[in-house]
Amino acid sequence: MGAAADTVRLFFALWPNGELQGRLAAWADQAAGRGRAMRRENIHLTLAFLGDTEAALLPGLQSLAAQVSVEPFRLPLDRIGYWKHNRIIWCGASEDPPALTALVAELRARLTAAGIRYDTKPFVSHVTMVRNAAGLPEAPAWTPVALEARDFALVGSTRVEGRVTYRVLQRFPAAAG
Ligand code: 2AM
Repeated sequence: MGAAADTVRLFFALWPNGELQGRLAAWADQAAGRGRAMRRENIHLTLAFLGDTEAALLPGLQSLAAQVSVEPFRLPLDRIGYWKHNRIIWCGASEDPPALTALVAELRARLTAAGIRYDTKPFVSHVTMVRNAAGLPEAPAWTPVALEARDFALVGSTRVEGRVTYRVLQRFPAAAG
């Protein structure tokens, strides 16, 4: 089911720093059971999922994203959950900070205005940590952490030697102060 050569599989995401990715991946490794822990370098929070997109749209997409106004914010990852429908264990915030809600709304509105297709399912912020999980484990205990968002990223998804591999194509910094 490979996409045509002139398409790229894309999404916008918050990309945690390596330290936070490492902490989440370490928890995921212990919690995975028979599920599949996300690899450290793949851990992220999706803001908008575009999927297979014509490569020719990339420059327009990049300038559109650069116009999104975003302030730095802190996203507490203070709870974990399990969704039966897609068998994932995730962490997320009990309450989204207004700056995250605004970022997603503006980004999606600009995509819509530009006629760029994306998955319009309502945004439910979460960081996937384990896939194909049977449920929430009793251990290890979850220690709340926070994601310090200073930018958001346009990410490309490919398969390298059969493994899903994400590559940050461009970062869009939050306005200082
Ligand atoms: P998930 O982790 O909850 O599965 C790359 O696939 C990222 O985009 C994942 O974080 C995935 O969320 C998210 N995503 C959102 N909508 C998607 C869709 N329709 N198909 C695949 N991934 C989607």
